[in-house]
Formats: sequence, C-alpha cells, structure tokens
Amino acid sequence: MRKTLSMTALLLSGLTGLTMSGAAQAQDIQAQRLYNQSLAATCANCHGTNGVSVPGVTVPMINQLPESVMYELLMAYKTGKRTGTIMHQLAKGYTDEQLKTIASVLGKKN
Ligand code: HEC
Repeated sequence: MRKTLSMTALLLSGLTGLTMSGAAQAQDIQAQRLYNQSLAATCANCHGTNGVSVPGVTVPMINQLPESVMYELLMAYKTGKRTGTIMHQLAKGYTDEQLKTIASVLGKKN
C-alpha cells in the first residue's frame, strides 16, 4: 500500500513537472513572438502597420513582398548592393538574424 502511494505521488509530481514545463514553454513562445513583433514594429513609422503604407505616400508598400524577397532586399540594402534615401542606412542597424525575423513577420509567406 505504502509503495502504491509513493508511486502515485511520484507519478503526480512527474505530471506536474510536465505541465509546468509546458507553461514555461508557452511563455517562451509568447516572449519570442512579442520580440519578433516589436522588431517589425520599428518599420511601421514609414511603411505602416504590418507593412501596409497609407495610399498616396511615396514610401513603398512592403506587405506584398514574399518573405524571402524582403530578406534579400534588406540584405542588399545592408551590404550596399542596393541604395536608397534611407533604407541602406536603416538596414545596417540590424543583425542578419534580426532582418530575417523582420522579413518573416512582415513578408508574405511563400
Ligand atoms: C524612415 C522611414 C523608413 C523606415 C523606418 C523603414 N523604411 Fe523601408 N523604405 C523607406 C523608403 C523611403 C524606401 C524606398 C527606398 C529608399 O529611399 O531608401 C524603403 C524601401 C524599403 C524596401 C524596398 C521595397 C521595394 O519594393 O523596393 C523594403 C523591403 C523595406 N523598405 C523594408 C523595411 C523594413 C523591413 C523596415 C524596418 C526594419 C523599414 N523598411 C523601415 C522608408 C523607411
């Protein structure tokens, strides 16, 4: 009987442990999503929320660019292959990884 009880306790604590790590994992995913969104939000001043700029402005609409194309454009600005009035300067402020993250948030999934 005593053995059964301790086995049950062991099992329960194991299950609780699993649930806890599940919650911690969910929190990590939430934090990661928030970080990704806030990186992409740094583009909203000019390109609009989620890359949808206001009609009639000269800043290009970027929400129709596929994720991979957006990343290539950003890297081209960063490396100087592509020039502009502002983007070649802005792109240099992000790591390659951050640009990839931004492209994955704002770019169209392909
Ligand atoms: C200060 C305003 C401003 C901000 C902030 C800004 N952009 Fe731009 N973006 C522009 C302008 C203006 C252009 C046109 C090229 C140029 O003149 O530099 C452009 C061009 C682009 C292009 C090329 C679009 C095309 O079709 O050729 C991409 C992609 C882009 N921006 C992505 C981003 C991303 C991603 C961010 C955030 C990290 C961002 N931009 C932040 C103003 C801005």
